Amino acid sequence: MPKNSKISAIQTIASQAYQTFKNTPTSGNNVDNKVFAEQQTELVSLMSQITAADLNIAPPKNLSASSSQPPSAPVTYMHICETDAFSMGVFLLKAEASIPLHDHPDMHGMLKVLYGKVDIRCYDKLDQAAGAEAEHERQEDAVSKALLRSSGQFSAQSGPCVLSPAKDNLHEIDAVDGPAAFLDILAPPYCPDDGRDCHYYKVLHTAGRKDQSEEDEVWLLEIPQPDDFWCGGEPYPGPQVSV
Ligand SMILES: [Fe+2]
Repeated sequence: MPKNSKISAIQTIASQAYQTFKNTPTSGNNVDNKVFAEQQTELVSLMSQITAADLNIAPPKNLSASSSQPPSAPVTYMHICETDAFSMGVFLLKAEASIPLHDHPDMHGMLKVLYGKVDIRCYDKLDQAAGAEAEHERQEDAVSKALLRSSGQFSAQSGPCVLSPAKDNLHEIDAVDGPAAFLDILAPPYCPDDGRDCHYYKVLHTAGRKDQSEEDEVWLLEIPQPDDFWCGGEPYPGPQVSV
């Protein structure tokens, strides 16, 4: 390696993500959870420091949509890298865009806002047995009971929002007060052939008290990908990474 070469912040994150997730603790394997927790803490620390400028990304200058243009994707993804252990990229949300409620089956994740603000609500499905015996009027398997685990606003000054197979695994993300962007790590990557496909959900109603911000029970209905949500792609302009 050249003596004065400087390792980019995103390369450091990619290397740490690989170290953290190369033996991802999912339901199917046994790993040292203490080691995993230490590695994940280090990754959270690195993610907390990454900025939009580190990735050569800046908020769009023209915030007003032109009505004469065909509608472009409300959300755009910039792919950075993918290995068997994790995938990493940047999501760009237009003003008022939302990523609808979706899951990350048996996956870990980390989301760090680069610019703008997002509201994130995180849910977890309750025990399937509890959902099956409930006397809900809908009988289909597509309905499940879940808990609203957390709800909060994240900006570039916030630390990453962290999800795991067991906690905060489902989330919905809304851009607030203008466009927003966030760096996203998923581990392992989505892979339908391995049972890690993305499903979308609609909250049917809240069973808990409205004034509670946590641990509220809701019913979730699995739905097709909403018509008003689709994700375009554009090239990632930041430093290249290798893992
Ligand atoms: Fe997600």
